[in-house]
Amino acid sequence: MIAVHSIDETRAAVCTARVAGRVIGFVPTMGFLHEGHLSLIRVARENGADFIVVSIFVNPLQFGPSEDFEKYPRDAKRDREALEAASVDVLFLPPVEVMYPPGATTRVIVSEVADPLEGDRRPGHFAGVATVVAKLFNIVQPDLAVFGRKDAQQCSVIERMVRDLDVPVRLVFGETVREHDGLALSSRNSYLSKEQRALAPALHRALSAGADAISHGIHDVEAIEKLMRKMAAETPGIEVDYLAVVDPLTFRRPADFHHDVLVVGAVRIGKTRLIDNICIRKSAIPHAHIE
Ligand code: PAJ
Repeated sequence: MIAVHSIDETRAAVCTARVAGRVIGFVPTMGFLHEGHLSLIRVARENGADFIVVSIFVNPLQFGPSEDFEKYPRDAKRDREALEAASVDVLFLPPVEVMYPPGATTRVIVSEVADPLEGDRRPGHFAGVATVVAKLFNIVQPDLAVFGRKDAQQCSVIERMVRDLDVPVRLVFGETVREHDGLALSSRNSYLSKEQRALAPALHRALSAGADAISHGIHDVEAIEKLMRKMAAETPGIEVDYLAVVDPLTFRRPADFHHDVLVVGAVRIGKTRLIDNICIRKSAIPHAHIE
């Protein structure tokens, strides 16, 4: 593995690999890597990539002024070892000045799908994500890029951007990797105390209750959301930000249950904000085929 800090070195390494006929897979991250991140590298390989580029960049543009940019967990040494062990080819670690030199004012704004839920709670977040991902795509120029379904709205925002801007990349989405008790792996789980960690699976339990209701034929969105809130309320110490049933294309209420639907949620435990979701496939929804 080579670790590079500049755009030119990254492009040179990728260019050499492409000339040699390799298929370039790209996994963007903010580091403090866990099994969820590493699973995306495997997904890239399963989808035909044989030259893997991983970026680690804690992107200031996607953090709000009162969010955790400064204290976002970082462990460069451990990350590097994990990526070496995963036989990654290039680790791109750009300094902030490389990504955002003075005077860089262009932003990529995805509207509609980026507006509700996370977009509403975190103004500017998805513009920050879309801008950095567009830049990383232009720097790396991968054949395929892998994102985790754990950040479901982020997947939909990036999918929209790639379509709308005709970005020549194939997007692949990896399933959410969880702890044994259902908690989705996240770099932010490291903020939780032992006591808070014990409360955290309540988010997944609430979403699972919603998903079960949908796969048992309940199509009343209000009732499903109420059920999920009731489940979450069984764990004091968890503050619900939202628990919602949405259409994965719009992140608004589904018009019907004839397509895949998502149950999505965000909660706070102390100062830590956790998000998660479950997709209920059309094939698992009773009568979904009936118009
Ligand atoms: P980060 O939170 O580091 O996540 C990097 C990638 O790992 C994302 O695609 C995310 O969805 C995926 N991921 C996180 N936890 C996961 C889990 N438990 N199972 C599977 N995949 C998981 O998401 C970002 O960084 C940033 O917004 C980024 C896309 C890098 C742009 O800055």
